[in-house]
Amino acid sequence: MNVTVVGAGYVGAISATVLAYLGDRITCVESDPVRLAAWRSGTDPLREPGLGDMLRRVDVRFVPHADFADADAILVAVGTPMGRDGRPDLEQVETAAAQIGARARPGAVVLMRSTVPVGTCDRLQSGPLHEQRVVSNPEFLREGHALRDAFFPDRIIAGGPADARATVAELYGRIIDRYGLPRDLSADNGSSGPVPFRWMSATSAELAKYAANGFLATKLSFANEIANLAQAVGADASAVLGSMGLDPRIGSQFLRPGLGWGGSCFPKDTRALQAIGDGMGYDFLVLKAAIEQNARQLRGFAAAIERELPQGATVGLLGLAFKAGTADTRESPAIALARLLLRAGLAVNAYDPAVREVAGDLKIRVHSTAAEACDAADAVVIATEWPEFAAIDLGAVRRLTRGDLLFDGRSVIAPAAAAAAGFRYAGPAGFSERSIEMTAVQRLRLGTAA
Ligand SMILES: NC(=O)c1ccc[n+]([C@@H]2O[C@H](COP(=O)([O-])OP(=O)(O)OC[C@H]3O[C@@H](n4cnc5c(N)ncnc54)[C@H](O)[C@@H]3O)[C@@H](O)[C@H]2O)c1
Repeated sequence: MNVTVVGAGYVGAISATVLAYLGDRITCVESDPVRLAAWRSGTDPLREPGLGDMLRRVDVRFVPHADFADADAILVAVGTPMGRDGRPDLEQVETAAAQIGARARPGAVVLMRSTVPVGTCDRLQSGPLHEQRVVSNPEFLREGHALRDAFFPDRIIAGGPADARATVAELYGRIIDRYGLPRDLSADNGSSGPVPFRWMSATSAELAKYAANGFLATKLSFANEIANLAQAVGADASAVLGSMGLDPRIGSQFLRPGLGWGGSCFPKDTRALQAIGDGMGYDFLVLKAAIEQNARQLRGFAAAIERELPQGATVGLLGLAFKAGTADTRESPAIALARLLLRAGLAVNAYDPAVREVAGDLKIRVHSTAAEACDAADAVVIATEWPEFAAIDLGAVRRLTRGDLLFDGRSVIAPAAAAAAGFRYAGPAGFSERSIEMTAVQRLRLGTAA
């Protein structure tokens, strides 16, 4: 099949690479000259694990403009960042749709891989893309695992005009049948058999994407609430959450307490899902609480650090990416934390295995090793769950630091190991700053409340 992919970011570049590997003729359009030059020189500007190597094995034509005339299928994978009002900014989608509508042949299938509000595909179908067939085909890959997720997805969701279904099924046929996929990658979910391919209306497919991200974000917020409550009542959060995860109806993923969720998808997708409800006069209570809890979680963690440190003190910040395995810092809680700490008059020396620079207005120093970032620090703060930080030599770090505080915002360090290295340890819920309330709760429990 002749396939044109619009946008060479995480979703576009991965889709292009995977489909090229499976034998389609792929053109990938990228309007950002810096990104385009990187792809053309064989460098992966996203530093997504395995992508650069895979790309060198396949034939993807990266271009600044496409004429779309030969394309049987066109994948739209442009950005849909959060707009000022919390709703997605669809400017890139509208531009791409206008370009495609003006040049693509009638009947070509346009797959919307970008995450767009409910109703967008139908609107484009009756507008600029009225001669094409518009299918909502949301992407579920995880940055850091993107290549594997694209070759071995949990499900493929698509919806649109019935006569587009066969084209979509053909496009993903080898992935669905798990045929001819790279042997050096394998599904990490252990599943075999055909990948579930669910065909539905475009509206349902659009909502299915937001529903999945909204639920995952809510699960993280719930886990953080449990961890905070565990601290307040003197329970062991990891024991409580670990036992919850053993229930197959709950599952063990997304239960690790942290300083809050972020990234290029959860914040904007939860806000967009809330806006979808608001637009219909529906008050999505659970989701709104999850969003609010997330903001409170980060503020609480920052406040716990600020309480322990005098103005002018230095923090060694380990982690800048929004999660491990990626260089992506969009809506990163680590970056948001750095801003709060700077605002509180603290100095920040940071290190991240994948992030070498930050926005110019963020006045932190980015070092090239964890040791440099922690040198003479008054407190060490872990903000991204990189395995490197979980395995860090705490004794060596403690010998470098001036202070003995370790704030583990990602629950990657065993408190006992921190104590053995001479650190005073605080998890994502901070120290027992609620010790007064805790004492009250314990007194209540003992029936000795004053
Ligand atoms: N990143 C993820 O993990 C992920 C996962 C699932 C879904 N999504 C969704 O997929 C979409 C893309 O996400 P991303 O992270 O890949 O975004 P991204 O910002 O990394 O990439 C989008 C790319 O499209 C390019 N572009 C925009 N308009 C263009 C045009 N008219 N012609 C050519 N190129 C154009 C941009 O320059 C950019 O490089 C978003 O809607 C996002 O919510 C992202």
